[in-house]
Amino acid sequence: MEWFGENPPTAIVTGGASGIGRAVCELLSQNGYRVAVADRDKKGADEVAHHIDGYAFEVDVADEASVIALFDGALQAFGGTLDALATPAGIADTTPFMELTVETFRRVHDVNVVGTFLCILEAAKRMRSGGRICTVASVAGKRGGGLSGTAAYAASKGAVLALSRSAARALAPQGIAVNCVAPGPTLTPMLDEPFKNAEQRTRVEAMTLLGRSGEPREIAEAIAWLLSPRSSYVAGETLTIDGGLMLD
Ligand SMILES: NC(=O)c1ccc[n+]([C@@H]2O[C@H](COP(=O)([O-])OP(=O)(O)OC[C@H]3O[C@@H](n4cnc5c(N)ncnc54)[C@H](O)[C@@H]3O)[C@@H](O)[C@H]2O)c1
Repeated sequence: MEWFGENPPTAIVTGGASGIGRAVCELLSQNGYRVAVADRDKKGADEVAHHIDGYAFEVDVADEASVIALFDGALQAFGGTLDALATPAGIADTTPFMELTVETFRRVHDVNVVGTFLCILEAAKRMRSGGRICTVASVAGKRGGGLSGTAAYAASKGAVLALSRSAARALAPQGIAVNCVAPGPTLTPMLDEPFKNAEQRTRVEAMTLLGRSGEPREIAEAIAWLLSPRSSYVAGETLTIDGGLMLD
């Protein structure tokens, strides 16, 4: 990783205990990064951190004080530098529209939107020029749901798409690049419940050109690229990784 200079690059990954976030932690570690694995699931974060020789942090991304403590703690562990941030921490919701409560709608936005915003903000306060951020939306944010997640989830991911572009504009003058990935169906614990219904799984997978769900590693590869200087001319972009689902 010669582009980052003499020291190994450093990264904070939220939602690092599971699924896509875990795959990002593993891949970045293989690529030579020192990684802070941040999750509200501390036990899971500990396991991943142990596995990759990284640092585990318990965080609720929806809570400002908790996010600030994460960034302060990680920067201390890293010796003061932060090169990359990935924000996969998120929750799904499958409540039918007419049964959706304001509480549920707010909670999903607190984690997925406010959580992403807080992490970008705290990263931007600490990153030098050359820092890179990758957020995680979803094809649900482009399509308005229609897969597994419903209105609260789709609206939150649409907000992540817009937030990422806005942050890209705001932070470019500081030399910080913000990009986003929009995954399609990916085999993580998030889909365990909806995919218990075999017909639902078949329907969703048939919507892709490849006829299957993605693996967490296939999303992590794109995130790792967007976090690396190899994507140095990519800015404010959303990379859709969905086996061709959005093509229809
Ligand atoms: N799996 C899919 O099909 C799919 C598709 C599109 C987008 N996504 C998005 O990818 C991201 C990762 O999801 P995943 O599929 O790996 O799910 P996952 O459930 O395996 O992982 C999500 C992680 O986020 C953590 N988390 C949840 N709320 C948190 C909070 N408030 N603070 C800190 N950590 C919190 C969880 O503990 C968990 O470890 C999510 O943003 C999700 O919306 C997933």
